[in-house]
Amino acid sequence: MTEIGGSRRIMRGACACAVVCALVALCALPAGARGALDEATRAAAERQLLALLGLPRRPPPAAPAPVPRALRVLYDARGAMPAPAANTARSYHHAPSRLDDRFPHEHRFRLYFNVTGVPGDEVARGADLTFHRAAGGAVAQRLLLYDVVRPGRRGRSDPILRLLDSVPLRPGDDVVRADAIGAARRWLAEPQENHGLLVRVIEQNENGTDARQPHVRVRRRADESEEEWRALQPLLLVYTEDERARAARERGETLLTRSKRAARRGHRNHRRKEAREICQRRPLFVDFADVGWSDWIVAPHGYDAYYCQGDCPFPLADHLNGTNHAIVQTLVNSVNPAAVPKACCVPTQLSSISMLYMDEVNNVVLKNYQDMMVMGCGCR
Ligand SMILES: *[C@@H]1O[C@H](CO)[C@@H](O)[C@H](O)[C@H]1NC(C)=O
Ligand SMILES: *[C@@H]1O[C@H](CO)[C@@H](O)[C@H](O)[C@H]1NC(C)=O
Ligand SMILES: *[C@@H]1O[C@H](CO)[C@@H](O)[C@H](O)[C@H]1NC(C)=O
Repeated sequence: MTEIGGSRRIMRGACACAVVCALVALCALPAGARGALDEATRAAAERQLLALLGLPRRPPPAAPAPVPRALRVLYDARGAMPAPAANTARSYHHAPSRLDDRFPHEHRFRLYFNVTGVPGDEVARGADLTFHRAAGGAVAQRLLLYDVVRPGRRGRSDPILRLLDSVPLRPGDDVVRADAIGAARRWLAEPQENHGLLVRVIEQNENGTDARQPHVRVRRRADESEEEWRALQPLLLVYTEDERARAARERGETLLTRSKRAARRGHRNHRRKEAREICQRRPLFVDFADVGWSDWIVAPHGYDAYYCQGDCPFPLADHLNGTNHAIVQTLVNSVNPAAVPKACCVPTQLSSISMLYMDEVNNVVLKNYQDMMVMGCGCR
């Protein structure tokens, strides 16, 4: 079954163009020829790319929000996600509102994260809420994180809370992490039922009384600037898997295994053609500044996409990564060129890249995009 899905995918990529071609249409033209690309083609290419990024439209240019340190660390780790199967990490800060006034104390605080912008095809695979420990937090305490399933009504009903995580706060800890996946999953499924999270801190004594000593930072101090507070305030990272990544995972087949299987023995005594004419990978650097996208793609500035080009001559050599079918097609072509064309030089192995960008409401997103960079070419 997977064999059929896999080969169909290769066929689609065969002589038609894939994602990278949209980028090429946008920016691979020499500087002088750029004006030659008409507006309609350019708009079509941009639409195709935005669809790939899962964005309904180009995010409006905004003052770039600082990239949270935790996201930068993930990006530097080449997008290695801490949650299995996730290919996207979205970052959120508490959205302040008048409701905050109902929580005047530090030991009991409500945090609200507006995750309404997450596209409908994304499924939550993990959610980490990070707190910074307040200076002077010296006694053993415990942080309790609850999902507010139903808010309370003053004097009428108590809120319905579900305990998500219980984390010991040890003297000396700088950063405290709590697991909020239970809530994130619920919010994505029923966005109107997002009533925030309740953070409670208690002393680690036999009675579990409300914390009186400093513990974690939940609100800005009067003497703190917005920038200082940004770096210290609670940060929610939601790890999701989008439809594209899920489909690829469920096919259970990577391009690597496909190309290994395809690399069957070919003919050994092939005629030598000039190397540059033969099917091979060629350099192509896509610069996001050329496309005018550097205002919302934070990193990288561009990337090596590469492309495949060249001849697939008879007899097909081993290193041209031909399928049995490509070998047969090349053979028939050599006998009767009018009957069938030669095999095509196409990507047979692709790898992913990570991108940091701003979504429409200026939240920073880290996403791993599959099949963006050519690793190997072959005749198919
Ligand atoms: C959440 O953000 C959206 C914009 O993305 C906005 O329309 C909506 O009002 C926000 N919801 C709350 C409760 O702040
Ligand atoms: C715990 O509660 C008991 C009875 O309510 C009280 O006698 C005791 O002093 C309390 N202990 C602490 C550490 O607060
Ligand atoms: C064939 O595939 C291998 C592994 O993917 C790659 O190293 C090699 O460069 C490919 N051949 C060509 C002609 O690109």
